[in-house]
Amino acid sequence: MRLADKVAIITGAASGMGAATARRFGKEGAKVVIADMLEEEGRAVADDINKAGGKAVFMVLNVTDEAGWKTVVDETVKTFGKLDILVNNAGISGSATNDLLDSALWDRVMAVNSTGVFLGTAAAVRQMQSNGGGSIVNLSSISGIVGQTMVHMSYNAAKGAVRIMTKSTAVQFGKDKIRCNSIHPGLMPPMRTSGATADPVVRAKMLKAVPLGRNGEVDEVANAILFLASDEASYITGAELYVDGGYLAM
Ligand SMILES: NC(=O)c1ccc[n+]([C@@H]2O[C@H](COP(=O)([O-])OP(=O)(O)OC[C@H]3O[C@@H](n4cnc5c(N)ncnc54)[C@H](O)[C@@H]3O)[C@@H](O)[C@H]2O)c1
Repeated sequence: MRLADKVAIITGAASGMGAATARRFGKEGAKVVIADMLEEEGRAVADDINKAGGKAVFMVLNVTDEAGWKTVVDETVKTFGKLDILVNNAGISGSATNDLLDSALWDRVMAVNSTGVFLGTAAAVRQMQSNGGGSIVNLSSISGIVGQTMVHMSYNAAKGAVRIMTKSTAVQFGKDKIRCNSIHPGLMPPMRTSGATADPVVRAKMLKAVPLGRNGEVDEVANAILFLASDEASYITGAELYVDGGYLAM
């Protein structure tokens, strides 16, 4: 198994790509902490993993809450003995409002999608330093590389921050054997908070920019996260991996 004996925290794992990643990690032998604000859905994902023979627990976490992060990391170590992997996946959409100049959305998106990743990284790095190393995988997006007409610029700014924070983490904590890489999904199933980008007409237009001619599946992102999280990627750090059907190659 590709993650035998590894302990992983995955944020936003009650839904979408985080849930797919948690299930995949469970099958590959990891002990998984599902960290999310959605209790019912998060517990259901943990139950599924346990029923399938894996090991998972749910913990409530709002990624913008620094004290909450400390509790989750401490509880993870109490429950499973250590922390090897953090997947900073929780996020909210940049199309939650149609007003591209809405300042309230700026604050919300930056808090969850950018500050949340910093707080998670800080909490995990402190633990991983005493643990002899670890692997952090950050969910950025194609929106962290290019601007888009239908997406609030807070989403581009936050995902761009995640891209470069990934490189800061890699260069600052490589000495502690901590690796950090970013994943950049393209057109995927809509997020829970998606507005315009969930509209079939808008999605059909967006599809025209995808060389593979289809949207991606959550398991295709989970596969990429699994690789970067695992020891198979032991000499890869500070890298960005596009899972976008070729969108950024056009
Ligand atoms: N779906 C896409 O098209 C797409 C494309 C590129 C990148 N992404 C990124 O991938 C990640 C996962 O997206 P998804 O499509 O699975 O979305 P989703 O909406 O299905 O899942 C997001 C999860 O994050 C959780 N979450 C939101 N705010 C939180 C907070 N403050 N604290 C803790 N948990 C919180 C939600 O409860 C949910 O379970 C996000 O970072 C997103 O920005 C998504």
